Amino acid sequence: MVPLKLSELISQDDLQTKVTEIGKKITEQFKGEELTAICVLKGSCLYFADLVRSIDLDIQCEFFGVSSYGASTHSSGEVKTTLDLTVPLEGKNVLLVEDIVDTGLTMNFLKKNIEARMPKKLVTTSLLFKPAALKTECYIDHVGFEIENRFVVGYGLDYQGFYRNLPYIAQSSDFN
Ligand code: IMP
Repeated sequence: MVPLKLSELISQDDLQTKVTEIGKKITEQFKGEELTAICVLKGSCLYFADLVRSIDLDIQCEFFGVSSYGASTHSSGEVKTTLDLTVPLEGKNVLLVEDIVDTGLTMNFLKKNIEARMPKKLVTTSLLFKPAALKTECYIDHVGFEIENRFVVGYGLDYQGFYRNLPYIAQSSDFN
């Protein structure tokens, strides 16, 4: 593993407070209805696990694998599907859960892909959002934290497959 110079950016407590807040908003938004929550692998695994436990609705959990970065710290702009969903989304309420929106290309690819499956309603959430890195217009319904255009790891986010298990978000001073 490559050791990065890291400093804490968002604490474990601040993450939990924000996730609970977003969970409450989504509960209100879909009150009395069922929801299919989609975890975008691999980065949103921890956010997804905490978020679905903060939503008080009947939820089906689905997993969607996409890869856009390879082993680098900059988006390749190319989005590949590595694992497809296992249920049809037609007529369903869908919550798309992302870890971070950087260039916006992955989120827009996912939105287009899911809209094509004719859900009743699609709501998006991303724990982190780097507005300065956007390369395309990208609307997200529920954003956890807007951050600067720095490379971050932890709470699901990786560098070369490592650091996902950090319980907080850390920023690296090794890049940019
Ligand atoms: P986008 O298509 O450029 O918006 O990139 C989205 C994907 O790139 C995310 O789902 C992450 O997997 C990855 N990514 C973007 N920024 C970072 C970062 O700062 N740290 C780790 N992964 C990142």
